Amino acid sequence: MSQQTDEYLKSVTEGIQSLNTAAEACHSTLSSQRDDSLESCSASQAARDRLVLEAYKVLQLVQGPIDAAATCYERTAHLASVRSLLEMGAFDALPTGGASRTTQELAKELDVDESLLARLMRNSALYGPFEEVGPDCYRHTAFSEVYLKPEVQGMFRFAMDDHMPAHLKAHEFLKANGWRTPSSTTDNPYTHAHATGGKSMFQHLSQLPERMEAFNNGMMLQAITPLWMIDLFPFAQRLATMNPDPSTVLAVDIGGGKGRAICRIRSMCGTLPGRYILQDQPHVVASAKGTLDAEIETMPYDFFTEQPVQGALTYLIRRCLHNWPQHSVVQILKNIAGVMDSERSRLLIEEIIVPDENSGIEEGWMDMIMMSIGAQQRTMKEWVTVLDSAGLKLSHVYRLPGNCHALIEAQLK
Ligand SMILES: C[S@@+](CC[C@H](N)C(=O)[O-])C[C@H]1O[C@@H](n2cnc3c(N)ncnc32)[C@H](O)[C@@H]1O
Repeated sequence: MSQQTDEYLKSVTEGIQSLNTAAEACHSTLSSQRDDSLESCSASQAARDRLVLEAYKVLQLVQGPIDAAATCYERTAHLASVRSLLEMGAFDALPTGGASRTTQELAKELDVDESLLARLMRNSALYGPFEEVGPDCYRHTAFSEVYLKPEVQGMFRFAMDDHMPAHLKAHEFLKANGWRTPSSTTDNPYTHAHATGGKSMFQHLSQLPERMEAFNNGMMLQAITPLWMIDLFPFAQRLATMNPDPSTVLAVDIGGGKGRAICRIRSMCGTLPGRYILQDQPHVVASAKGTLDAEIETMPYDFFTEQPVQGALTYLIRRCLHNWPQHSVVQILKNIAGVMDSERSRLLIEEIIVPDENSGIEEGWMDMIMMSIGAQQRTMKEWVTVLDSAGLKLSHVYRLPGNCHALIEAQLK
């Protein structure tokens, strides 16, 4: 056996040992979680994330350096075949529940070239999402049926149709701009790749109903997370110490979307007297109205303008700031700081905190997406900098081991 082969086998063996260790840790974490508390869900997610990362590492070791580099061909080709089959209607045409169909039957139903369909299917059944059950005969698996859910399909379409072109052209934009951090919503890798003519991603999408629908559906995946970092803030205990009365604003959720967070806060506060306010763009609060608890007030509000609610006990801004460049984030925060009470008010920011080292998969791709629209995910040091620029100081960070999402508490300096 050559020295090279010897080293290859040794590295694969070591990788498999690390994978086994991560698998055992994941098994033990998952089997010991008996409830759906934030702590349990977060620990399970962290254990699975570690296992996935180890699996990627083993795959790379097994491939070896050259084949690992060449996976750019197979990964992009695989994505392209799945995206084409989705557009062609093959996902809908295949029966769910395990029954198979031949490419001949499918091609007839879809009115497409059978040979074209067969080539796309072949490539989409290597390791999934589809399964090949015989010559030119395929069926759905759990990994393909999941694309039938509007939120998963929306996420995939948005990633492929909007972000993939931006990622592919990022080097072009960054080089042409002297390798400076993109910091404009209207001049960034996305606007370059899609030639938006000076429009931001959101302005561009608003002209394209199908793409906007995919975006909105895809965002629903985020909304169904069981991981709410606001649960870590002791709302009831903290706010009770401030002796609120029915006129006290207990919480304002800025850019609160459909209002799930503010409803959650209200339920955490129990019978505490006081008001709860949901703020967002006019069309968003209008669409949220029917689904909100009766006690929640709605208020159309643009967070780049003066904040109309003075001296609330808490101002929450959740998953909004990462969408904006530094100067915009500072502006949004200054608008909140301008109305905070120096003693009683707290700002709560629920966002990703990128770890100083060993950053994980989620914060990695999320940051690349934000980079493509001129925004960013931030480290703790970067959060402290934006808080400071807005006249605020850090009071506390609520977080759980292995989870990049966190709740930052701040107050006036
Ligand atoms: C990613 S969503 C987060 C929604 C919600 N906070 C959550 O955690 O699910 C970003 C929100 O920011 C809102 N938004 C965007 N621009 C805004 C503006 N200028 N003023 C107020 N809200 C805005 C959007 O309408 C959207 O609801």
